[in-house]
Amino acid sequence: MKTTLTTLQKMKQDGQKIAMLTCYDASFATLLDAAGVDIFLVGDSLGNVIQGQRSTLPVTMDDMLYHTSIVARGTQQGLVLADLPFGSYQVSHAQAYENAALLMAAGAEMVKIEGGAVMVDTVAFLVQRGIPVCAHIGLQPQSVHVYGGYKVQGKTESEAEVLKRDALALQNAGASMVLMEMVPASVAKAITESLSVPTIGIGAGVDVDGQVLVLYDMLGVYPGKKARFVKNFMSGSHSIQGAVEAYVKAVKGLTFPAEEHSF
Ligand code: KIV
Ligand code: NA
Repeated sequence: MKTTLTTLQKMKQDGQKIAMLTCYDASFATLLDAAGVDIFLVGDSLGNVIQGQRSTLPVTMDDMLYHTSIVARGTQQGLVLADLPFGSYQVSHAQAYENAALLMAAGAEMVKIEGGAVMVDTVAFLVQRGIPVCAHIGLQPQSVHVYGGYKVQGKTESEAEVLKRDALALQNAGASMVLMEMVPASVAKAITESLSVPTIGIGAGVDVDGQVLVLYDMLGVYPGKKARFVKNFMSGSHSIQGAVEAYVKAVKGLTFPAEEHSF
């Protein structure tokens, strides 16, 4: 059955965990579909893992449109979520809408933007005009040069308060989902309990409504440094299909992430 926003909302209500993976092409999309992945994130992490860039900053709208279209072509069931890349939505509401609309026309069913309170009005603008939005808070890789590195966010009590406030404001603006990257598990848990929309975590502990990993990280393909929150599901699996199935099972069965993958 085709995964829709309604499906995801019901999964949160029923306490059924959502399994998300990044996906960049049609063949993997078909494989992930067969393995039961609920959401395919066409992430701007493709800058790192496909293009060999040092960050996601060089990724263009043309790159995102190409990968979104080929992922959509390989998908029957999973919901296609596409990132708006660096510089494609921060300038104005009109810029955000025009680029989000292009991603939707290429096959995305929801778009993801990085940012907390500063993005609340942009989220409202998009949602009110027919574009579902996933808000990405906590560590925002497009802001890596502001942080001076990839660091856990929301560690102090005041930072955690800001995260909680931002998550609620984004939901109230109409965000359909809130993704949290590299935040303490206790903070992600509190935010998940306070929201009615599903939350997705990466390095955010097990008490969220779903998990995401970068496909090339969880298959052990990416040659770069492995983050604490990554698990290689190829070890113990005999095929790529098996590894993806093991990931889905671990997410749904709450055996991933473990303490060792969390902050
Ligand atoms: O681009 C990406 O892969 C992402 C995930 C890390 C959430 O945004
Ligand atoms: Na991203």
